Amino acid sequence: MALYALGDLHLGFQVKKLMNQFGKVWKNHVRKIEKYVTQTVKPEDTLVLTGDHSWGRKLPECQEDLAFIEGLPGRKILLRGNHDMFWDVKKTEHLNEVFAGRLFFLQNNFAAYGDYALVGTKGYTFEGPFYLDRRGRIIGWDEEREAQAKKLVARETGRLRESFRRAQEAGYRKFILFLHYPPTNILEETSPFTEIAEEYGVTAVIYSHCHGESRFADSIRGEFRGVRYMLVSGDYLGFRPALVLP
Ligand SMILES: [Fe+2]
Ligand SMILES: [Fe+2]
Repeated sequence: MALYALGDLHLGFQVKKLMNQFGKVWKNHVRKIEKYVTQTVKPEDTLVLTGDHSWGRKLPECQEDLAFIEGLPGRKILLRGNHDMFWDVKKTEHLNEVFAGRLFFLQNNFAAYGDYALVGTKGYTFEGPFYLDRRGRIIGWDEEREAQAKKLVARETGRLRESFRRAQEAGYRKFILFLHYPPTNILEETSPFTEIAEEYGVTAVIYSHCHGESRFADSIRGEFRGVRYMLVSGDYLGFRPALVLP
């Protein structure tokens, strides 16, 4: 039994969205996902997909994308990404009823993995715009957007605490935390998400969303204050699922 994670599949079977324009790594990315997930993940394993599953805006436009995910080996757990328009937070329970036994939607709930609880939420990160000097150093940013971002971070931390609350209520004391957005923005060393990770003593924080070489170092990777941080965006991993726990 093993726990894997992979983010940002960005599927678009029905809306016919291709990803080739985003660089070489995205060429035939669906085939890569199928190949590497099938090679790596066994039926008894768990695969957490950390958001940005589908370009479809409504559930009927995502049916083939979700069916593709369902066809991958292992137990599949899905997290919301910023592009997952089909998934309204309030409809999570409904999605879990419709896809019961096939896909699990992680939001305001948790999933058990051995003696670990898998908790998570989309998260949020302030992404600018930033103002640069001639040497490319950040000298300022859009403060109105930063204020708005703080509100979204507060809402997401509330949702994350609900996920922890339910897991603790069920008796879990060990956690793996999943986010779609990186835990910190490029101006921060710590954030409300890293503070929560430390507060609950999580083993690892897994996130994705960062695309392209220039964005892979946007947030924390590796060990930081006793927590392991892992970036699992599909293009960062070349669409090979990352091993979180053996
Ligand atoms: Fe993405
Ligand atoms: Fe994203």
